[in-house]
Amino acid sequence: MVSYRELGLVNTRKMFADAVKGGYAIPAYNFNNMEQLQAIIQACVETKSPVILQVSSGARKYANATLLRNMARGAVEYAKELGYPIPIVLHLDHGDSFELAKDCIESGFSSVMIDGSHLPYDENVALTKKVVEFAHQHDVTVEGELGVLAGVEDEVSAEHSNYTRPEEVEDFVKKTGVDSLAISIGTSHGATKFKPEQCTRNADGVLIPPPLRFDILEEIEKRIPGFPIVLHGSSSVPQEQVKIINTHGGALKDAVGIPEEQLRRAARSAVCKINIDSDGRLAMTAAIRKVFADKPAEFDPRKYLGPARDALKELYKHKNENVLGSAGKG
Ligand code: G3H
Ligand code: 13P
Ligand code: ZN
Repeated sequence: MVSYRELGLVNTRKMFADAVKGGYAIPAYNFNNMEQLQAIIQACVETKSPVILQVSSGARKYANATLLRNMARGAVEYAKELGYPIPIVLHLDHGDSFELAKDCIESGFSSVMIDGSHLPYDENVALTKKVVEFAHQHDVTVEGELGVLAGVEDEVSAEHSNYTRPEEVEDFVKKTGVDSLAISIGTSHGATKFKPEQCTRNADGVLIPPPLRFDILEEIEKRIPGFPIVLHGSSSVPQEQVKIINTHGGALKDAVGIPEEQLRRAARSAVCKINIDSDGRLAMTAAIRKVFADKPAEFDPRKYLGPARDALKELYKHKNENVLGSAGKG
């Protein structure tokens, strides 16, 4: 058993309480590799923001669980070395079984998500409760999910979005004992969050996605006042990045995300954790494609991963400062 405390990590309890009170959201950035982690830590130290390092089961398979855990330990030391020891959470993203959650808890994660959103309600309650009972013995915090996002949730695929039903949240939170709740109000995973026919177009032909269902969020907040709410699928899919990718050999069609002003509005509410992965993938891909196109003779990975890391860092600083409001809260 490796406790997250030995790694210098914290759970989400105080972080979320402060964020709900302060009207901002904590960034939850996914990582699989060193450059992403360096960029996250540099950006969050420079903006003095708390951060949730998010690891999916796919990321664990890709990078190796032992390496990832020790990278998180390294991140804590790295932040200190950079001169500002921000609070860092290591979180399992979209855990799909009790065994996976247990394995993470026993190997240094300070927070886990158990995603039973695709299960019938009673089975979601039972699975989530089981994880909470084990996690809380180790003071690890747990995120549950009610409602299904459109798109692909790790191994869990959902064709259509089923918005969270506000009438279920109070019962779910009470029965499971979760510390935070991910909800479905119109966000979606990936870089193509909506089909063009679900969007309108502005004068320049740019796709405008349907607005988030703030009415559902408000109804949920009324039923569980002050309870920490999580938004998945919250990348904004900047069109400048899509354009760089597509003009340098890429082929991203109809890529569209959640407008930043809607995320800003959500962050001022009880939404205290906002998940961003795809925007980082786009920034990295755009930077790397550009180097490959501009300098075809380049073959030193540092010469394309370095610019990708710089682009990621700028992206994360922008999110913390201008979208989530987490800058200065670390
Ligand atoms: O919501 C899922 C995250 O973007 C992680 O994606 O399973 O491809 O690592 P992944
Ligand atoms: P995006 O695909 O919108 O970045 O969402 C990431 C996410 O929700 C990770 O759990
Ligand atoms: Zn997600």
